[in-house]
This record gives sequence, C-alpha cells and structure tokens, in this order.
Amino acid sequence: MEIRRPDTMERITTKELADRFIAEQIELLKKQIGNGKVLLALSGGVDSSVTAALLIKAVGSQLVCVHVNHGLLRKGEPEQVIDVFRRQMNANLIYVDATDRFLDKLAGVTDPETKRKIIGSEFIDVFAEEARKLDGIHFLAQGTIWPDILESEHGIKAHHNAGGLPADLQFELVEPVRILFKDEVRVVGKALGLPASMVDRQPFPGPGLGVRCPGAITRDRLNAVREADAILREEFANYGLEGKVWQYFTVVPDFKSTGIREGKRTFEWPCIIRAVNTRDAMSATVEHLPAELMDLLVKRITSEVPGINRVLYDYTPKPSATIEWE
Ligand code: XMP
Repeated sequence: MEIRRPDTMERITTKELADRFIAEQIELLKKQIGNGKVLLALSGGVDSSVTAALLIKAVGSQLVCVHVNHGLLRKGEPEQVIDVFRRQMNANLIYVDATDRFLDKLAGVTDPETKRKIIGSEFIDVFAEEARKLDGIHFLAQGTIWPDILESEHGIKAHHNAGGLPADLQFELVEPVRILFKDEVRVVGKALGLPASMVDRQPFPGPGLGVRCPGAITRDRLNAVREADAILREEFANYGLEGKVWQYFTVVPDFKSTGIREGKRTFEWPCIIRAVNTRDAMSATVEHLPAELMDLLVKRITSEVPGINRVLYDYTPKPSATIEWE
C-alpha cells in the first residue's frame, strides 16, 4: 500500500518533532529492509542527502551510496559529499568521476533540450553500470518528497519512479522522506547532523552548470562559469545574503566582446549574474543588489576568472525570462 501523508500530520518545525520523525523512520526502515542491501544515487542535494543520513542511522553499511560527478557540479560539491558521507558519516560511498564521459557526449551539442536529455540518460547509464557491479541489492532508496508525489498526481511533473532504470534493474523502493515537505526535510537534515551548507542550499538543477554554459559546452567556459559561481556564492555569504536570496548564479554565454587589460586588447566572454526571489519558481522577481557588492563582484570576477572581461546583471523577472538561461 502507498504511504501517504496523513491530513492531520503536524508540520515538522522543531528539533523535537524532527527527532520523533527520525526515530519512527529508523524503526520502519529496519522493518522494511531487514538484512537487505540498499542502493542510493547521492547527488549531494538536500533530499538525497537526508535520505542517505536516515538510512545510515537505520541500516549503516547495508546502504551503498553512489555519487556520480557528471562534471557539471559547482566548485567543491563532490569534495563535500565525500567529506560529509565517507569521512564524517562513515558511509559506504562509491564515487564515480564521469566528467570526461559526460563532456565527450556533450561536445558540440547546442540545443538545450538535447543537452538535458544527454545528461539525464548518461546519468542513468553510469548509475546502472555501478548497480550491475554490486551483488545482492534488493532495494533502491530515493529522496522523493511529498510535493513530487502531488505534482506527479496532478500531471505537473513526471516523478521518476525507480530513477528510470533499465528493466534488468528493478528494485523495491525505499522512500523515507516521501511524506515530508521541503522545509521539513531541512529540519530533519539538521537534526541528523548534516551541515547547514548542505541542508539550506539553494536549488540547483539536475543538469547543473550545463544549463549555465549556453550553447555547446567547452571545458574552458565551464571552468569560467564554475569559478565565477564560486566567487558569487562567497560574496553573497560575506554580505549576509546566503539563505535570504532564493537562487543566484552565473552564466557565461558563448560569445566574446572586446576589452582591455594592462594596455592590451582582449577578446573574452561576458559573465552574467542572476539573483532572483520566488515562492514556487513559476514566477520570479529580481533581487536588487547593493552597488558596493556589484562593484566587488565585477572586480573579482574580471580579475580572477580566466576568459572573462565583462560582468552584466540580468534585471529581467520571470516572466518574460525564465530563471535559468536554458
Ligand atoms: P526556470 O528556468 O524554468 O527554472 O524558470 C525554475 C526552477 O527550476 C530549476 N530548473 C531545473 N531543475 N532540472 C532541474 O532539476 C532542470 O532541467 C531544470 N531547469 C530549471 C531552476 O534552477 C529554477 O530553480
């Protein structure tokens, strides 16, 4: 029988309520899994991280986490996943650096939806290959949350049941956070001891920096978008904007303009900064950044990021623009 969120369920807003949920889930997970082995695709996002932390508490080394680095993650993300889960939580973590594989498949591909499809299907291939190397896995854990269920029931979004895995890899699903809303997942994550930088992180699309490198992705432009994004996140944190602005990132488009550096002509990319606020991502307003912060961002990005000679601010709400550029 499908587990549903009871209409009367109290919203989990405190550590006490989170601890109670955690204790209940640990009992349920132990009962469901017994001595079985569980596989989990750990992206480092909030939902999969909290799912992993709950399962580690419940079944420890019976959980096998697979972290696929598709080469489109933000600076420091794979390192954080390895540090938190392998070192601090002692998890059974398989780390797959598939950067070359993804970037080779994406080489020369300009259409945004084709890029998304390649990234999605390659991800499933890499994960399936890792799953086939393992023996005796009976369960697949997923960080499905309650809005995913509601949205798939209302036909808004297809919920990827069992991750779209091929027919020879069918597992029983384990979904310990499926009755929770996002804010509750964060409270539970904190109670489980996950770092705030992981639990409170801003939304990050599955295709990652791939959609912030419009047109055909090249390694040098991908590096520019990753370095500029790291500077943006650092300075937003310094200005106390972390956790206050809903989503902020950089985009490095595939064209160049003339500039000047140390008396010499340059011909380099612009870097576009985007910072938006929204409730549901269906519409969004632009955050008005302090001029002092803008000046600092321009100075740091143009001097520290190779290949960037201009910085622009995207002042467009959604609609008419979408939040991402692709
Ligand atoms: P847009 O660009 O449609 O974005 O205004 C709305 C929100 O969705 C995120 N987004 C994605 N998330 N896969 C994801 O997992 C995607 O392909 C994708 N595209 C956009 C975007 O970051 C924003 O938060």
